[in-house]
Amino acid sequence: MGASSNWSWYAALLCLFSLGAEVLCDCTDRGIQIQGGNFTLTKGFKRDSVIIYRCNDGYYPYPAVTRICLPNGSWKPAPKRFSPQKCKLVECPDPNVLENGNVSPPEVQYFVGNETSYECYSGYTLRGSSKRICLPNGKWSGSTPICSRDSGFACPDPGVPPGASRAGNMFGIDDKVTYSCNGELFLVGSKERVCLENGQWTGTEPACYYKHTFDTPREVAESFGGAIKSTLTTTQSLNDTQEGRKIRISKDGTLNIYIGVDISESIEKDDFEKARDAVITLIKKIASFSVSPNYEIVFFSSEIYRVVNILDFFNAKVELNTVIEDLEKFEIGDKNTGTDLNLVFKTFENQMAFIKRQAGDEGFKAHRHVLILFTDGAYNMGGSPQPTVARIKNTVYMNHTVENQVGARDDFLDIYIFAIGNDIFDDDLQPLTVGTGGDHYFRMSKIVELKETFDLIIDESEVVGMCGLHRDYDTTGDKESTKKMFPWLAFIINKGQKAKTCIGSLVSPDFVLTAAHCFTFGDLPENIVVEIEDGLGSSEKKVKTFTLHPQYNITAKVKEGVTEFYDYDLAIIRLKESVQISDSVRPICIPCTQETSEALNLVGESTCRQQEQVLLKSYREQLGFLTRKHPLVAEKTVFAKLGENRDLCIKKALAAPGITTQDERVPVTDNFLCTGGRVGYRDHIACTGDSGGAVFKNFNQRTIQIGVVSWGTQALCGSTGGLVESNDESRDFHINLFRMIPFLSKNLGDDNQDYTPLTFLKN
Ligand SMILES: *[C@@H]1O[C@H](CO)[C@@H](O)[C@H](O)[C@H]1NC(C)=O
Ligand SMILES: *[C@@H]1O[C@H](CO)[C@@H](O)[C@H](O)[C@H]1NC(C)=O
Ligand SMILES: *[C@@H]1O[C@H](CO)[C@@H](O)[C@H](O)[C@H]1NC(C)=O
Ligand SMILES: *[C@@H]1O[C@H](CO)[C@@H](O)[C@H](O)[C@H]1NC(C)=O
Ligand SMILES: *[C@@H]1O[C@H](CO)[C@@H](O)[C@H](O)[C@H]1NC(C)=O
Ligand SMILES: *[C@@H]1O[C@H](CO)[C@@H](O)[C@H](O)[C@H]1NC(C)=O
Repeated sequence: MGASSNWSWYAALLCLFSLGAEVLCDCTDRGIQIQGGNFTLTKGFKRDSVIIYRCNDGYYPYPAVTRICLPNGSWKPAPKRFSPQKCKLVECPDPNVLENGNVSPPEVQYFVGNETSYECYSGYTLRGSSKRICLPNGKWSGSTPICSRDSGFACPDPGVPPGASRAGNMFGIDDKVTYSCNGELFLVGSKERVCLENGQWTGTEPACYYKHTFDTPREVAESFGGAIKSTLTTTQSLNDTQEGRKIRISKDGTLNIYIGVDISESIEKDDFEKARDAVITLIKKIASFSVSPNYEIVFFSSEIYRVVNILDFFNAKVELNTVIEDLEKFEIGDKNTGTDLNLVFKTFENQMAFIKRQAGDEGFKAHRHVLILFTDGAYNMGGSPQPTVARIKNTVYMNHTVENQVGARDDFLDIYIFAIGNDIFDDDLQPLTVGTGGDHYFRMSKIVELKETFDLIIDESEVVGMCGLHRDYDTTGDKESTKKMFPWLAFIINKGQKAKTCIGSLVSPDFVLTAAHCFTFGDLPENIVVEIEDGLGSSEKKVKTFTLHPQYNITAKVKEGVTEFYDYDLAIIRLKESVQISDSVRPICIPCTQETSEALNLVGESTCRQQEQVLLKSYREQLGFLTRKHPLVAEKTVFAKLGENRDLCIKKALAAPGITTQDERVPVTDNFLCTGGRVGYRDHIACTGDSGGAVFKNFNQRTIQIGVVSWGTQALCGSTGGLVESNDESRDFHINLFRMIPFLSKNLGDDNQDYTPLTFLKN
């Protein structure tokens, strides 16, 4: 992308005669430079190329945000000599619309960084923020200040957002207020609000946006995340902290999600991959909520590129992993120019009609539909999608169109628009949103922020009970970011007779799993601390009890030629006080629990065996475990050798020091997983300090612990540890948790104790 400067020289001279003698010229670089910023060209100086201007944070391009090269070689809009292109300081909408109060300082314009404070006249009280700062995205921090006094109305004074005017000063039941924005500002949110009997206003507070006003990923995550979660749930709030909030759609309901991504010229080329990654993140996020929606996923320009067909979900069972793989594989070759936004709505409408025919009118009533569109809204063919959207509403509402009416079906259809781009066509896009409860229109400047947005959605305390939920990429490379990737990580510090540190894994707010060999005979709970930074008091958590597996006996096979025997090398630590769960402190999932079945999307009555089949399905199964490394830990990658590969792997145990038996099955019982070596892939190898850590596997957005790091045949690490690779001979052995269920269930699943138990499967 971008123009090399050498050919812009003669670009001005290049005009071609086309058929019909119309002169076709390239555009020139005259007057397109920007002061204080830079720009890119989508197709150099050729016809249809778009200049996209960029400025630093807190500034925006002015007077144009983009320019397009017309066939006759001129830019639209044309550069103006007297108004050179520059980066202007971001402005916030006028806060001097406050009624019954004062704004200070009173100014004509407010720019990024400007602070304001608000005071009410006597007799009025202030709701909202008393101080606000103009932020780089063109919005004021905090919430709209409102000066009101008790007037006996049913609804509270709804206030006037900055830059807006409100019509309507009566706030009784059925009274209506309407908003408009002043000057060049435009309105986002509810233009009209009605006071309901319950004392609430319909809709959401509107806001006035400039063309340079954008929503931040956090704002969108809160708003869209809240809305999509309420769609995904029956909002069944169990008072059970272990289960957190149960999230599933009503039993016989079906959720259909239609996703359309604009890949026309107007969205830049490398943005396609970012948009695709964001869609994958969103789908994985939704999967983490134990719901299995049906998906229709298309990319579009002037035609539709279908990646996932929703009808396949009705004909056969489609695995979520296949959907993600299809998305990952999807590449866009030469695509047609032009954008037909209507076509994508028509495509969704057709699919809906198919579903309706298949389900029948009665069956279709239980179907919910969520349409999610990513576009800048610039369409140049196919006409306005508004009539299509109206027909979609009719189809889903089944002609019950009166909103707010009892039994209305407006819960069954949501259309969310993510308006993304440099030059957004808000007037065309906003009317296409449909749905109740919160915002459906989001305005973002960069596609790259989408993935972050969808990731933020899970970072809410509502889903604290869900085991294994984590962030699967590193944002900043610092300790905080690493913790979010491995929120179950704990360090065990044994200050007893033999000082030792191990790694452990949080499996519930009260319990940590580690290896039995991290303890020495005679150790007391007060000798042990568990390091978990949950923000509650010291990060060194006190230990109430620790329990070694009763069959762990390191000297049990000395006579058989095994100096140190590590079978059942497993211990459970009970903390004195529960840790506080958050997005950086959260339990890992462990085998044979109901929580893990949900994480694996196993529906109905599932079994332990099914979980094992999902998690350890191939003869070389990729797993991970952690090692200490600056700034906190790093992940080691290994392959568990299973099935016919296992025999060769465990044979190497005979070379370990202290083993004189000729039968490798004496030291390596069926309770061990074997990793290491360099056949096919050079595995990492465990270091001393890695002992007790979780051997885990990620499934969608969840982490499931399969084993515990126990022992190895060679010491390859030296004192520093870290990401050390295996040689041909070196092997590690990990306790397989699938073989430890009676012990785990006895100590973690007992509901007669004073802790919240995990739910172990019956079979
Ligand atoms: C162009 O601007 C963007 C955003 O301000 C910046 O990241 C980039 O480094 C700039 N490139 C050049 C060549 O100035
Ligand atoms: C090029 O075409 C546009 C629109 O068709 C027109 O407004 C403009 O004046 C033309 N420019 C020149 C230099 O002919
Ligand atoms: C508001 O910000 C502008 C730009 O930074 C600055 O010039 C001006 O002095 C600020 N006004 C106040 C009242 O702080
Ligand atoms: C949960 O707790 C709240 C208050 O503690 C109580 O009002 C509510 O009925 C409880 N809900 C359930 C489902 O037990
Ligand atoms: C909805 O109304 C349209 C036109 O008025 C009609 O053709 C259609 O059959 C109606 N649908 C239902 C489900 O009543
Ligand atoms: C461990 O095994 C050895 C050998 O069988 C036995 O003598 C010893 O009592 C066992 N220790 C425990 C604590 O069971």
